[in-house]
Amino acid sequence: MPDLPSGRRRFLQHTSVAGAGLLIPELVFATSQRESSNKEKGAENISPAEDLMREHGVLNRVLLIYDHHLHLLATKQTFDGSVLASAADVIRHFVEDYHEKLEEDFLFPRFRKAGKLINLVDTLLAQHKAGRMLTAQIRELSSVATLKYVSDTDKLADALRAFLRMYRPHEAREDTVLFPAFRSIVSPHEYDALGEDFEKKEDELFGEEGFFKVVDQVADLERKVGIYDLSQFTPK
Ligand SMILES: [Fe+2]
Ligand SMILES: [Fe+2]
Repeated sequence: MPDLPSGRRRFLQHTSVAGAGLLIPELVFATSQRESSNKEKGAENISPAEDLMREHGVLNRVLLIYDHHLHLLATKQTFDGSVLASAADVIRHFVEDYHEKLEEDFLFPRFRKAGKLINLVDTLLAQHKAGRMLTAQIRELSSVATLKYVSDTDKLADALRAFLRMYRPHEAREDTVLFPAFRSIVSPHEYDALGEDFEKKEDELFGEEGFFKVVDQVADLERKVGIYDLSQFTPK
């Protein structure tokens, strides 16, 4: 391992066991200087809601990668499954094992204790579980070399479609109902303290400025499949 800042080394160690497709260290080293260099110092003092919502932004960018692969499958185009496998790894390690764990450990129990939005919390939790099963399928099928079998192709398309269908309303409901209500069930002091706890946890798992590293990683996956350039989405 080259002489890297401790935070970066910790991040690479974590991700090296996280799955072959998750991260290519040289790539991260190069890209982290590209997009993350714009980040201002001190910009990490963010509230729990902003923290969770920008994580939804990462989720949304992976959903675009899933959309793209669904289109490739529908039009019977061949593709290298490694980008999809890496995208599923981002979902597994960043969204499921980190973001959703924050919701499950810090938000859901407080709503239950306050007796608020309990049905919503139950549904969100059930969807996290369903999402994990779909991710396992997507991960497994995307690593099957070139999907020779029609049944595998159909299974992968079904899993991607089910994931997209569930997560768009899931995160929209959290952004517009759960997160805004969270402020009203905790004291301002607890709310601020949780923001710090979230950042600490993010640093522990992904290294300093870990969020930006994950964003860079997703941007690299977008580049590989040709959907990085934002202007392509502007109507002509
Ligand atoms: Fe959630
Ligand atoms: Fe969420």
